[in-house]
Amino acid sequence: MSANVQELLLSRIRDVHDHPKPGVMFKDITPLLADPAAFTALTDALAGLCTEHGATKVVGLEARGFILAAPVAVRAGLGFIPVRKAGKLPGATLSQAYELEYGTAEVEIHAGDLGSGDRIMVIDDVLATGGTAEASLGLIRRAGAEVAGVAILMELGFLGGRARLERALDGAPLEAL
Ligand code: PRP
Repeated sequence: MSANVQELLLSRIRDVHDHPKPGVMFKDITPLLADPAAFTALTDALAGLCTEHGATKVVGLEARGFILAAPVAVRAGLGFIPVRKAGKLPGATLSQAYELEYGTAEVEIHAGDLGSGDRIMVIDDVLATGGTAEASLGLIRRAGAEVAGVAILMELGFLGGRARLERALDGAPLEAL
């Protein structure tokens, strides 16, 4: 991705102080989504990574990951599979619980949507602690599919998510635009 595109994407991410609670600096991607040039550039960059890493399907992580992963899947000519928060998917699911800073969360995938022979690219907006993405890798592998990599718009470096996720990726690439 060119430095110009990277600059365009960065310029469309808004810092919101004290959201959702005091002391937190929230990275708001809605200005990027509202700008067709930036959203198209982001979609093209992520779709290019899917092709480069030989993905056969795209997994998006609820909720903001859906917004990015769906157009990427269409652009790359691949199927889209949602990883949802627990209790939302109607079919037979695989579930994975993971630790949050306080408490636990759980994500699910439709087990029948992927399997052996699939190479999955996981797409999300933000890598923070890495817990959500790591849980999605567990779901993909338990379904019998291979992980092609994780591609995200931005990483919050100070939370250590990269080191945690790279361990879980076990050699598969982590691409942060
Ligand atoms: C956010 C973000 C990532 C995740 C990253 O989702 O979109 O999916 O947190 O955090 P982690 O690396 O610490 O797991 P969140 O569920 O907060 O909100 P959303 O439903 O608006 O996407």
